[in-house]
Amino acid sequence: MTANIVLMPGDGIGPDIADEAKRVLEILATHHGLDYTLNTVDVGGAAIEKSGDPLPDASLAAAREADAILFGAIGGPQWDTQPRDQRPESGLLRLRSELGLFANLRPAILFPQLAEASALKSGVVANLDVLIVRELTGGIYFGKPADKCSNAQGQRAAYNTMRYDESEIARIGRAAFEAARVRNKRLCSVDKANVLHVSQLWRDVMNELAADYPDVQLTHMYVDNAAMQLVRDPNQFDTIVTGNLFGDILSDTAAMLTGSIGMLPSASLDAHGKGMYEPVHGSAPDIAGTDRANPLAMILSLAMMCRYSLARGDLADRVESAVGRVLDMGLRTPDIANSSETVTGTSGMGAAIADMLI
Ligand code: IPM
Ligand code: MG
Repeated sequence: MTANIVLMPGDGIGPDIADEAKRVLEILATHHGLDYTLNTVDVGGAAIEKSGDPLPDASLAAAREADAILFGAIGGPQWDTQPRDQRPESGLLRLRSELGLFANLRPAILFPQLAEASALKSGVVANLDVLIVRELTGGIYFGKPADKCSNAQGQRAAYNTMRYDESEIARIGRAAFEAARVRNKRLCSVDKANVLHVSQLWRDVMNELAADYPDVQLTHMYVDNAAMQLVRDPNQFDTIVTGNLFGDILSDTAAMLTGSIGMLPSASLDAHGKGMYEPVHGSAPDIAGTDRANPLAMILSLAMMCRYSLARGDLADRVESAVGRVLDMGLRTPDIANSSETVTGTSGMGAAIADMLI
């Protein structure tokens, strides 16, 4: 079967890292039997410049037909003053919502070679392997009503709604229990049930689901404590499940434990295993086009794509092992380098991974 892959490079360093993903895909095709077509489409600021829309109809249509989507990064200061629906971020949120990509898997794994690059003591992060399962199409990101307004005194005001229906909680809960089941069978649900109605419902539904997964140990933690525990003793966690906003915040924290946010991939899956794969990091406009971005989060996202959407777990293993071996050689992009290592650029790192795959 020929896999129909849609590539959305986006903005900032997005196109830089997308080029390295293409390089890796080509090697997987020529050397390891990956059969694919690649369709590159505009999204984010790049699309706004051409058509005024961060998610043009043609791009959405291509994404709908794809078997998998590889997404670079979006956003930049030049679009920050645009009306909200004409910002790059709105294109990404619409894409997640329109495609029903509710299950966002964000693994935080420390490559042992990078223990010194972590902001935390190497003993605290040793063997780190946490999976954050973030709900991606609901919660305060999408809740209605949401608007700007003014109060009775004419002051500016604004509001958003954090809402979850029980079916939305149950489907991300099931995805998280399933994920925990094939890991170390420990699931920590993170909420703010001491304050928020929506979190109490979240907790109730998680507890109800637990009956169907007797082999998985479910615990609960308030989000403020979870933020603290992630930097105090991250190894206490196996799998974390949480809502959209809390997951956004905690996944950046978890990323930094691994040394650099430039190392972290993610998968956003729908109910049928179709997925969008993107690095957790943003578009880093300050280093765009300078050959300094770390392409490894993108390349590791490509590996997740092979595993979850293309039924080619063997290729995922190959790519992940190539990343480990290139790090073993001492090759580093600037974000993960310390003085003793060989610093290379975006394309140097991509080329090294590609060579390792031959
Ligand atoms: C992420 C990003 C996005 C989010 C932004 C770019 C809209 O921070 O994927 O974590 O908040 O979900
Ligand atoms: Mg984020």
